[in-house]
Amino acid sequence: MGRRATITGWGTYLPDRVLTNHDLEHMVETSDEWIVARTGIRERRLAAPTETTTAMAAAAARQALATAGLGPDQLDLVIVATVTPDTLMPSTASLLQAELGASRAGAFDLAAACSGFVYALAVGAQFIAAGTAQTVLVVGVDALTRWVDFSDRSTCVLFGDGAGAVVLQATTADEGILSTVLGSDGTGAWSLYIDGFRELLSANGATPPKRPYMRMKGSEVFRFSVRVLGEAALEAIQQAGLQPQDIDLFIPHQANLRIIDAAAKRLGLPMEKVWVNIDRYGNTSAASVPICLAEAADAGALKPGMNVVLVAFGAGLAWAASVVRWGWQGVPGREAG
Ligand code: ACO
Repeated sequence: MGRRATITGWGTYLPDRVLTNHDLEHMVETSDEWIVARTGIRERRLAAPTETTTAMAAAAARQALATAGLGPDQLDLVIVATVTPDTLMPSTASLLQAELGASRAGAFDLAAACSGFVYALAVGAQFIAAGTAQTVLVVGVDALTRWVDFSDRSTCVLFGDGAGAVVLQATTADEGILSTVLGSDGTGAWSLYIDGFRELLSANGATPPKRPYMRMKGSEVFRFSVRVLGEAALEAIQQAGLQPQDIDLFIPHQANLRIIDAAAKRLGLPMEKVWVNIDRYGNTSAASVPICLAEAADAGALKPGMNVVLVAFGAGLAWAASVVRWGWQGVPGREAG
């Protein structure tokens, strides 16, 4: 067996403030029935000003280190997947590295929107497989509600904030990251983007004409994601030398329950094998897949030897999938989560 990365720690952070569909009914022309029927979302979390991207990442990372039974000084690398950093410079990963005291670690951000965590997992796993790192922290964190126009009903009902983190360590056992698939189709870039940036940059110190906000052509993204979620998952399953029926748990990006349903059908997986929490958190972008993974691990839904598919899609347009064989047996004398 070659050298692989395996997941040994996990953690999450979700802001306290809950924004329900009923709250949104007072903000835009919408209804709880419409949102539940079209998306599966009932409520989402909103980051307070003190719940910065770095603070949410640090809270999830500390839990992940504790689950793994490791100290921050044991990390070789910190990768933060985010498109909503607290500032463009320095990176969130460097801010996080300082916050944790991970003094030995290199640190960088990775921007692939909702696919960011699965992209970052693939990158971290490569560093470990190549032997250039032993222990890597991978965080998916976003605060997209800071970029949502709360007068635009076609986007404001969809998104929420949060963070999820995992610790990757080297193993020679038959477990860990078995395959990774990365994809992008930049011709669809303007289906989902933050507008007003060109105006902001060309204002050259003058007051820009408008504040940048996220914009989305929902039905274009919907058609793309229904196709790509199933295809990317299938490719990762085949690359791992497996069949869909070998998959014990399917963890898709939580953007829309109808997209998740379609992908599960495509793979012939019953919904009991699909992790869904979109009703509680909405679309948390890069945080969505690691939050699901951590919830599943804490709920005892993951047993050693189980094959898990992680798959995500989003702005880029971009997508990523990975098959992970769960290996966590438990640090002696410690409980998960
Ligand atoms: N409440 C009530 N009505 C609404 C709302 C709302 N919140 N939003 C749109 N509508 C209306 C529309 O105006 C439209 O009305 P019309 O028929 O009179 O024109 C009608 O509902 C239907 O609109 P559609 O856009 O066709 O609705 P659809 O069934 O496609 O659902 C949705 C819209 C939920 C946005 C869907 O297209 C979707 O989920 N798309 C994918 C989005 C996604 O996954 N984005 C995240 C990518 S991840 C990342 O990187 C951030």
